Amino acid sequence: MAKRTHDDGMTRRELLERAGAVALAGAASPLLRAMDGPAARRKVVSPNDKIVFGLIGCGGMGASNMRNFMGFDDVEVAAVCDVDENRMTGDINDIEKKYGRKPEVFRDYRKMLERKDIDAIIVGTPDHWHALNLIHAVEAGKDCYCEKPISHDVTEARSMVAAAQHYKKVVQVGTWQRSTKEFTDALAFIRAGKLGKIVLCRAWITDNAHVGHVAASDPPKNLDYDFWMGPAKTMPYAPNHVHGNWRWFMNYGGGMSVDWGVHMIDIALLGMSKDQNLPMPVSVSAVGGQYAILGEDRDAPDSLEAVYKFTDPDFIMQWSILRDHPGKEGHGTEFVSADGKTLRVWRGGWVVLDADGKQLPKEESPDVGSHWRNFLDCVKSREKPRADLASVAQTTICCHLANIAAMSGEMLHWDNDKMDLAGRAGKNEIGYRRDYRKPWSLPMYR
Ligand SMILES: NC(=O)c1ccc[n+]([C@@H]2O[C@H](COP(=O)([O-])OP(=O)(O)OC[C@H]3O[C@@H](n4cnc5c(N)ncnc54)[C@H](O)[C@@H]3O)[C@@H](O)[C@H]2O)c1
Repeated sequence: MAKRTHDDGMTRRELLERAGAVALAGAASPLLRAMDGPAARRKVVSPNDKIVFGLIGCGGMGASNMRNFMGFDDVEVAAVCDVDENRMTGDINDIEKKYGRKPEVFRDYRKMLERKDIDAIIVGTPDHWHALNLIHAVEAGKDCYCEKPISHDVTEARSMVAAAQHYKKVVQVGTWQRSTKEFTDALAFIRAGKLGKIVLCRAWITDNAHVGHVAASDPPKNLDYDFWMGPAKTMPYAPNHVHGNWRWFMNYGGGMSVDWGVHMIDIALLGMSKDQNLPMPVSVSAVGGQYAILGEDRDAPDSLEAVYKFTDPDFIMQWSILRDHPGKEGHGTEFVSADGKTLRVWRGGWVVLDADGKQLPKEESPDVGSHWRNFLDCVKSREKPRADLASVAQTTICCHLANIAAMSGEMLHWDNDKMDLAGRAGKNEIGYRRDYRKPWSLPMYR
């Protein structure tokens, strides 16, 4: 059975009391409030019920997910939460347009989680918040649609999976490529053995993101910057560090190895597996850093090469953050067979090539349907969604291992039985475990 402790010994109630922040404004609709009675305590959403959502992290991908869910008749959005008031306006307006009432608005997500009528949470915050948002949500009895990468480090990923399993919660991760035709067609082709024995997978992204240099300043009044930083190390505020740009700062994100790695490496690992239980490497080595984009505030690598060795099955995987992409898309995944054929897939298409680059025939497979609909169906059926948390945790960890290997300069060894690095190599890196900034602490589930 999973065990859980707050590192500083706080109980959940104490944590909630410490939250202190009050809902900013707004009252829920009579419909939603009416559900605060016995219906609110329901454990399972029945097939005819509406699934009531709360959104943590507005304005960006979280809001885009929310709008996708709002396209389904069996969805209602009750509440939104952000630490920046200005990020919520558009989402509040769209909810009012759709349902004829405003959502309840929160600054502190833990207060939102107290609402018993909310069945499911969308986690759309930056990566450094996912672990706390998700663990607190499943502790509060909510299913989750959680954005990728699942975590900021390996340790968080392990605890998140154990927590969701402990509370028996359905968690779909936003790796929507798992539901998109070109990827599902390509994966069906590989899994059916039509390319032959695969010996090498390559995944890549080009990174030309400039954040410039901006002097530190006081945060704007609309943003609770201390809350925004949350468990991350304190950094002076600058506008080019926050919304959208945080992914280029290792304190908040993991650069392209994690941001896009989790999409493209996911496809490689899925192609090399039979189901959602993905192969994990036995060893990883990498070199990388800032070679091209210099003198700017970002500290994430702009160039990186990682090599993974797998033994079950036997293959090599190469992950690259590149400057160029001659003759290819700026991102993609390739499978290379023992006889030199290549299957290449990217957002928008896939091809099968012989060893000289001549196109070979390919085959389509049935459409698997919407990623977001799949989550709703699984909330009702309690089945595993298509991008189940435990599975995308495996991909996310592989992404962290690229950064950890490059930053430590050590060859890493992975112990798949313990779901942990074997030995000391890499364990001092932020991608393995971060020290949480007080008063935040990572609830540890095992
Ligand atoms: N699946 C995809 O294709 C895809 C695409 C883009 C982004 N993403 C993921 O979505 C997540 C969000 O990315 P984004 O680009 O939309 O980021 P963003 O910075 O644009 O938006 C994040 C929002 O979360 C808010 N926030 C931060 N801490 C918070 C907290 N503790 N409580 C409430 N709100 C908080 C911020 O103020 C901001 O409004 C990331 O994990 C990212 O990797 C996924």
